[in-house]
Amino acid sequence: MNMSEQTEKIIDESRQGEALMVDQAETAGKRKMFLESYGCQMNFADSEIVASILTGQGYTTTSDISEADVIFVNTCAIRDNAEQRVRKRLNEFNQVKKKNPDLVIGVLGCMAERLKAKLLEEEKLVDIVVGPDAYRDLPVLIKTAEDGQKAINVILSKEETYADISPVRLGGNGITAFVSITRGCDNMCSFCVVPFTRGRERSRDPETIINEVRQLYSDGFREVTLLGQNVDSYLYAGGGLKKEIYSREELDSAVNFAQLLERVATEVPGIRIRFSTSHPKDMTDEVLHTMARHKNICKYIHLPVQSGNSDLLEKMNRGYTREWYLNRISAIRRIIPECGISTDIIAGFCSETEDQHAETISLMDEVKYDFAYMFKYSERPKTLAERKYADDVPEDVKGRRLTEIIDLQNRLSLESNKKDVGKVHEVLVEGPSKRSDEHLSGRTTQNKVIVFPKENYKPGDLVDVHVYDCTQATLLGNATGYSAGFKN
Ligand code: SAH
Ligand code: SF4
Ligand code: F3S
Repeated sequence: MNMSEQTEKIIDESRQGEALMVDQAETAGKRKMFLESYGCQMNFADSEIVASILTGQGYTTTSDISEADVIFVNTCAIRDNAEQRVRKRLNEFNQVKKKNPDLVIGVLGCMAERLKAKLLEEEKLVDIVVGPDAYRDLPVLIKTAEDGQKAINVILSKEETYADISPVRLGGNGITAFVSITRGCDNMCSFCVVPFTRGRERSRDPETIINEVRQLYSDGFREVTLLGQNVDSYLYAGGGLKKEIYSREELDSAVNFAQLLERVATEVPGIRIRFSTSHPKDMTDEVLHTMARHKNICKYIHLPVQSGNSDLLEKMNRGYTREWYLNRISAIRRIIPECGISTDIIAGFCSETEDQHAETISLMDEVKYDFAYMFKYSERPKTLAERKYADDVPEDVKGRRLTEIIDLQNRLSLESNKKDVGKVHEVLVEGPSKRSDEHLSGRTTQNKVIVFPKENYKPGDLVDVHVYDCTQATLLGNATGYSAGFKN
């Protein structure tokens, strides 16, 4: 089956036999899409699904807005500033549309799901609004927009995982790729908009995950990141929602995250495996032991803590305490001593006191994170926190606390990197370094970026690199030869 037949079939199925409304001959080979993505890795992975669906309809991608027939922005709604950035871009795209009135502008992803028809009605900046579970409908929606009508599909699904769609890899390095393993989230952290924009949690069929990873390997890729909002809650027993559909027999034969990791690591032994995001309440020792057993599973865990104070964690509805979190950190250190650890932190959540903030600082100091993503709390409409708690930490206090958190993390990152000076690390080469074509850049198993002189090495090589110096963000080294590679 070629790509276009495959897409046609997919669309046919999604519309349950309804005739395919887009005339492929009309669009074939001449339509250009400009696709821009914001937000998390899952959004970037989704854009590759969108590109696959539209490529099957005869579209090609372009990086030049002026030659585009359609512009899609895949959006994020996690914080207010993420949405403001998208609004600014939409205004810019509308300037382009003034010169080219046939241009179709579409909003995809989480902001589309959050604002729904409001984006069409109030702002008049867009022609198409499509939520994260409705991408199979895109060809029909484009046609509707081209006929002069506003087009919208923001229906969230309990089954959609796009499991059968082969993503078109966009703008990557040809070495590392994202593979979605779950969609949606059932957790309802009180600050978070994701359950409203992405819907219920669903796990993808493991066979399709392994096939995709295998295909990536034969296409020359050497690393995959398995993606989900909470990978540890991955559980596949025939599809659908986790808690509602599975019978006892199904649950007995279900595949959990540790088992999925084990299968990917053994069935595609030449590829390096990462995953994100781990959730402290669900991360099991079984996962840690699986990581420890396989050399091709990277020794790196992103374990968002959000706050170091147990009362605030409860208010955030995170499902763990400070002590539980520190116990998970001890388990990582015990089972995988060389593991890299990073986190997410929110400064100034509702009612956060100076003492509670100080507990976040002391937890960071205790864990000694290698890296962190740090944010000021941004109230999101409809969330539990918006409905129940006042966003009462003044903006300047949020800013000051965030600065303290960032300053500490900068010191911790530098300390962590300094410990690597003098060591030899196995590095997967990703491409030329940002600053010089004479240097290559890659990552250690702990996810640290390392730069070294190119010599005869090339992207995709596994190279042993001796670290001689570092900055807070990067290790600097010299290659000592090809690495022996993975031996499971
Ligand atoms: N599923 C992941 C997180 C996804 S969102 C997890 O549970 O860890 C990525 C990060 O954005 C979160 O970890 C949190 O630190 C931050 N974030 C989410 N909502 C936010 C909000 N309303 N304000 C500020 N930061 C927020
Ligand atoms: Fe949001 Fe919590 Fe789900 Fe992460 S686990 S996506 S923070 S609700
Ligand atoms: Fe943003 Fe949606 Fe991801 S809100 S962080 S793009 S799941």
